[in-house]
Amino acid sequence: MAEPSLADPPAVSLADYAERARAVLPADVWDYVAGGSGAEVTLAANRAALDRVAVLPRMLRGLDTVSLGTRLLGRPYAMPVGVAPMAYQRLVHPEGELALAAAAGAAGVPYLASTLGSTPIEQVTGVGAEVWFQLYWLRDRALVRDLLDRVVAAGCRALVVTVDVPVLGRRPRDLRNAFRLPAHVVAANLPEGRDALAHAGAPGVSAVAAHTSASFAPALRWSDLAWLREHVDLPLVVKGLLDPRDAVEAVRSGADAVVVSNHGGRQLDGAPPSVTMLPEVVDAVGEECQVLLDSGICGGTDVLRALALGAAGVLVGRPLLWALAAGGRPAAQDALTLLAAELCDAFTLAGCADPADARELRTIAVG
Ligand code: FNR
Ligand code: LAC
Repeated sequence: MAEPSLADPPAVSLADYAERARAVLPADVWDYVAGGSGAEVTLAANRAALDRVAVLPRMLRGLDTVSLGTRLLGRPYAMPVGVAPMAYQRLVHPEGELALAAAAGAAGVPYLASTLGSTPIEQVTGVGAEVWFQLYWLRDRALVRDLLDRVVAAGCRALVVTVDVPVLGRRPRDLRNAFRLPAHVVAANLPEGRDALAHAGAPGVSAVAAHTSASFAPALRWSDLAWLREHVDLPLVVKGLLDPRDAVEAVRSGADAVVVSNHGGRQLDGAPPSVTMLPEVVDAVGEECQVLLDSGICGGTDVLRALALGAAGVLVGRPLLWALAAGGRPAAQDALTLLAAELCDAFTLAGCADPADARELRTIAVG
């Protein structure tokens, strides 16, 4: 895979990394990462909806510096951004999770480690970043307990339960490509054995979907979350809800934060853009817990939009995976530095001294 060379001009927007990644990745891996479910309506709508949020800047606020620092789940971070949990990062770069987690650590932002990581969680926390563990609830509750013990022992700072994957969304690109994991990429946090499913190709089948449907418990309830709350002494984040009523349930079940997300358009196609639902969720639970947003964020302006609509912060997915693919840890780190620079500009131009100020901005729906 390509490492950055002197011939590569510096990226000037996060979108630059997508082009570079596309040039180095196998077509089926590109499709797995870039794609969405169904007709990819929700995937496209995420971007379009962000673009319809206009932020009203404030003038003459007497600012000569801005500060991006914020607290998420009670801990200090360099900016209101986290690296979204993404499965199988060794698909896109040999150093996978270790490189992206190290970049997050250097940037002072949390790294959310997926249950489906291709590097064991103990090695990921070993790079020294603040790691939040993302849990996919497994059919076998004993395995869930073991995993949670490992997560706590490894020093993860939070537990993020993803609730929008009872099964993987139907993703036509993966079905067409009969997408399967290459032999060197495994679900390193799970016991060996079931992995064979993720590597077995069959026409019209996504092996990753087959593997998840064999492994994940589809019939979770809010009471299972309460069980988790009692068994694990870590801040609890519920990721993947859109309906404010679910946000209320999450808070009742003990959530310290929720992530308004449609999984980057990869789950229910036709679900609304997550940014469209953000204000209602903030109204419903914003006083009781932190509300984060993901799906479609690809620059400092988008982070500003999310804050102005009441989010405590955002998660960024694909753009950072593209940077990892394009140039490993250095590129991922550059991407986070670029995002911080963009956010700093956006704050300055909008007259915001800090994230709290940004949450006071007004927005207008345009277009
Ligand atoms: C994901 N996402 C995801 N979410 C999760 O909770 N656990 C996971 O293992 C994964 N895996 C995963 C793999 C890949 C390749 C992608 C692109 C996404 C969803 C992710 O956390 C996040 O919700 C979206 O990616 C956000 O949208 P953007 O930033 O990619 O537009
Ligand atoms: C995905 C899963 C694994 O979106 O979360 O591919």
